[in-house]
Amino acid sequence: MASTYGAAQVLVASNRGPVSYEVLEDGSLHARRGGGGLVSGLSAIGPDAGALWVCSALGDGDREAVRRGAGESGVRMLDIPADVHADAYNGIANSVLWFVHHMLYQTPLEPVFDAEFRRQWASYETYNRAFAEALAEEAAEGAAVLVQDYHLTLVPGMLRELRPDVRISHFSHTPWAPPEYFRMLPDDIAARVLRGMLGADRLGFLTHRWAEAFTACCEQFAGGLGDTAVGVHGLGADADFLRRRSHESDVDERLTALRAEIGEGRRTIVRVDRTELSKNIVRGLLAYRRLLDDRPEWRERVVHVAFAYPSRQDLAVYRDYTAEVRRLAGEINERYGTPGWTPVVLHVKDDFARSLAAYRLADVALVNPIRDGMNLVAKEVPVVSDEGCVLVLSREAGAYEELGEDAVGVNPYDVVGTADALHRALTLPPGERMERTKRLAAAATALPPAQWFLDQLTALTG
Ligand code: G6P
Repeated sequence: MASTYGAAQVLVASNRGPVSYEVLEDGSLHARRGGGGLVSGLSAIGPDAGALWVCSALGDGDREAVRRGAGESGVRMLDIPADVHADAYNGIANSVLWFVHHMLYQTPLEPVFDAEFRRQWASYETYNRAFAEALAEEAAEGAAVLVQDYHLTLVPGMLRELRPDVRISHFSHTPWAPPEYFRMLPDDIAARVLRGMLGADRLGFLTHRWAEAFTACCEQFAGGLGDTAVGVHGLGADADFLRRRSHESDVDERLTALRAEIGEGRRTIVRVDRTELSKNIVRGLLAYRRLLDDRPEWRERVVHVAFAYPSRQDLAVYRDYTAEVRRLAGEINERYGTPGWTPVVLHVKDDFARSLAAYRLADVALVNPIRDGMNLVAKEVPVVSDEGCVLVLSREAGAYEELGEDAVGVNPYDVVGTADALHRALTLPPGERMERTKRLAAAATALPPAQWFLDQLTALTG
């Protein structure tokens, strides 16, 4: 059980773990491994080190795995009561903290912090405490505990009280709200979140901008950072994995199918996102419609390939947003489409191989979030692209800090500006497009997941 890095045992804590289970018809359990930066980063300390990952059981399959004691070694799933988890995850983490850090509250969606919110907050505390207690139980003397994200902001403080001997870090995969926005939270809750995080020895953020916003919040609402150190680690794309994976046969098959769907000789504007309010998919479609309106010469000659994968469908605002994306895509196709040309090719079924195929053929990648911790799509496309791809990138994405110079930058609210940027991107000379793609790929892979993870661990234990 005691996995070690240097002298320290390593534990990771996150809401979503590296594996999920499904009960098959014959009653057996099927385990599915997740992807993402953290999973590949953790592999850097080697399979034999076998760090322990503490996460939530998220569905019936996970709960069944916990009941049967059938979990994989190196993973401890916490079977937190479903109603407590729903309050903490849907109610507080995804409806309040996510909205605050992405500055998504806008009329008429402003928050109402009422008795229901207080009830959900109590669940968030219970859920965080379950993690802190499990970690306290599992951690060896002097262990290094790496806590992840806005779901678990209270864990560092709670764990510190239970186990003053362990080294604790917390990493935020989201932006951090500036003080003028963060103060929207009730005073006691804002202070509780900051104090919870400041229980860590070290806090990590994806960009300087988010680290500075957090520091400013602490100065204004918590009397400063105290002994807690703050570091910036801009997670990059995993070039080796992406280059290999994007040339496997299933991706080649999807590429052929996509080409047929798009039609011979057409240019492509590609986007790949979770269907998420912060990703700004609707304004992306409006900008594309504006491009077709303003510059009719693009009609029949370009296709917007939009992959919008369902996310957090328990929340009504997400369901409404998903419906709006579908409606608008349909409207554009109805208005401009011709027998041989579908202006928007929208796919909503998550398919990583097809996403990679789209990355390979994209002439332009549209990444226009209102606000985003980093945005890995912006980093993955230039690595995978077959013939060079122009990146139209929101200046509000964390990735802009590293990629802004070689991307075409946009204000995500400015639909006309985004339409102009799409036109510019489509008309960039091939030579310049290739040069930019090469520089983007180099910047995007500067801190691959393994190094990203080791840097944090070294900073915590060194
Ligand atoms: C964001 C968070 C991640 C989370 C992801 C997917 O990027 O920072 O921690 O894994 O969204 O969200 P979900 O709610 O599906 O876990």
